[in-house]
Amino acid sequence: MENPLVELIAEVKRSYGKDLSLYDSIFLTGVLKNRRIATGTGNLEDYLRYINEHSEEANLLLQALTITYSQFFRDPFTYSFLQQSIIPILVNRKQGGELRIWSAGCAGGQEAYSLAVLIEDAAALAGQPIRYRIFATDISPSALTQARLGSYTEEAVGNCTVRQIRDYFIKTNGMYTVVPLLRQQVDFSNYDLLDSTSAHPSQSIYGDFDLVFCSNLLFYYQPETRFAILRKLTKALSRAGYLVTGETERGFVQDFNKLRMVAPLSTVFQMNGT
Ligand SMILES: C[S@@+](CC[C@H](N)C(=O)[O-])C[C@H]1O[C@@H](n2cnc3c(N)ncnc32)[C@H](O)[C@@H]1O
Repeated sequence: MENPLVELIAEVKRSYGKDLSLYDSIFLTGVLKNRRIATGTGNLEDYLRYINEHSEEANLLLQALTITYSQFFRDPFTYSFLQQSIIPILVNRKQGGELRIWSAGCAGGQEAYSLAVLIEDAAALAGQPIRYRIFATDISPSALTQARLGSYTEEAVGNCTVRQIRDYFIKTNGMYTVVPLLRQQVDFSNYDLLDSTSAHPSQSIYGDFDLVFCSNLLFYYQPETRFAILRKLTKALSRAGYLVTGETERGFVQDFNKLRMVAPLSTVFQMNGT
């Protein structure tokens, strides 16, 4: 066999339509190593043979490539910065118009609902409602099912304050379910950020987002694919809109060159020149 990794990538693309070459090589190698251990195959050549003989293995490999871990207020510093600096700017800028937010790669919905909590808190503080809509998208159908259900473990809500738990969740049988007030503000849908035929989720009708979250997703992919995702997200931003990434992904955005960090060490960016 010439190069088992190249053959494996070609086979998965041919049979399952998934292009593994877009994934970051260290990430892909780590996932393949775990699958080799789980299937008891010694090397990639054996694993390729195994995947050809066991059709269910391809699904398990694709699932392993999709890490859907998330939690409420995952990066507390970012959320606190949004609460104190960015949300007040946006509310003031919109002058009563609707705030449009996109949580791209929303996993089980924790990020989208965290943003809804921040806005509801801001509205309570201001003593008047804030109009907003959150479009939350992912490629994992099981993650989207959990997101629509809006029911979470104690660990997932661990970064919420006691007051937020009291105001925004209903506790039943040890699970915390978001209140209808939050649920009604979020529109969940399946959307692949690698889809080159569309600029943004069709549910949003048009892009023009004031705030786009894309956190803990870019690290999956090769640099060119990360840039393609960043190009799509920046095109979907309104003028002077904000893009938020994960803590470990700041460097990827800096390599992209079209965005600037709005405050030192933050994960919040704006297009250059806005
Ligand atoms: C690790 S989770 C991060 C969830 C959340 N954004 C956070 O920071 O906690 C990454 C999510 O990105 C999704 N994802 C990966 N590639 C994607 C793509 N091409 N399009 C849409 N979602 C994608 C995965 O299904 C997964 O739910």
